[in-house]
Amino acid sequence: MRTPLVAANWKMHKTRAEAAAFVEAALPRLAVVEGVEVVLCPPYTALESVGRLLQGTAVRLGAQNLHWERQGAFTGEVSPTMLAEVGCAYVIVGHSERRRLFGETDDRVRRKVRAAFDAGLVPILCVGETLEERQAGLTDSRVTDQLAEATADLSAEDVARLVVAYEPVWAIGTGHAATGEEANRVSGLIRAWLRGRFGSAADTTRVQYGGSVTTRNAAEFLQQPEVDGALVGGASLDAEEFVGIVQLAARPGGTGGAPG
Ligand code: 13P
Repeated sequence: MRTPLVAANWKMHKTRAEAAAFVEAALPRLAVVEGVEVVLCPPYTALESVGRLLQGTAVRLGAQNLHWERQGAFTGEVSPTMLAEVGCAYVIVGHSERRRLFGETDDRVRRKVRAAFDAGLVPILCVGETLEERQAGLTDSRVTDQLAEATADLSAEDVARLVVAYEPVWAIGTGHAATGEEANRVSGLIRAWLRGRFGSAADTTRVQYGGSVTTRNAAEFLQQPEVDGALVGGASLDAEEFVGIVQLAARPGGTGGAPG
C-alpha cells in the first residue's frame, strides 16, 4: 500500500518567524496523525530554521526549487547538495509557476529531477495542463509529454521513489479545483504511462493532486484510489487548515511517517 503524502507548498510566503509560529501550532497535532507522510516546503530562507524544529519528528522538510549543478557560477541559485545539507528530503520540481513565470523548460525540469535524486532528495515532479490545453482536448498528451521529458534520465529504482503531483494549471489558486473523478483519471493515466515505461516500479510511485485543495474538498481527492495525497498551496499557510487536510489523508493501518 502506498502511504499518502501531503505537502505544504508555501511558495513565497512566511518569514522565519511566521514559519516558526506555524510549526509550533501544527506540529503537536501532526505528530499524532498516522498513515500519512507530511512535508513542509518553506521558502529557502526558512529551510534551516524549520528543519531544526522538525528534527526528531516524522514531518519532513522540502524545498520548492533547485539548480541542477552541485556548485558553480550561477548567481542566485541553490544546489541540490546545499538543500540536502540543511536537511531537505524532498524538493518540488517543475511547478507551473516556475514553468510559466521563470521560463523553466521541460529540459531543465529533466536535469533538476536527475540532480535531486543524485543528491539523495526525492523530487515532487509537477505536471499539468493549462486551461487552453484542456479546452483543446490536449490534457492527456500534455501531461504524458511532461512526464516523458522529466523522467528521461531516471531508472526504475528512481521512479519507485518519485512523487508526481498532478496540478492542472487552471486549478491553482483559483478556487476551481478539479473533480475527484478527473483527478483520479489523470493520476491513473500518469501511473499507467510510468508502468508502460518503467514497469512495476510505478506501483509505488505516489501521485498527488494539487490545485485549490482545502479541508472542504480534500476528502473528495484523498478517497480516490489513484490519488496518493495532495500538494497544497494557499490552504497550507494556515496551521488549522493544513492539519485538517492531513487528518483527512490519514489512512488507518498505513505505515505513517516517512519510509525508511
Ligand atoms: P493552491 O492550493 O493555492 O491552489 O496551490 C496549489 C499549488 O500550486 C501547490 O503547489
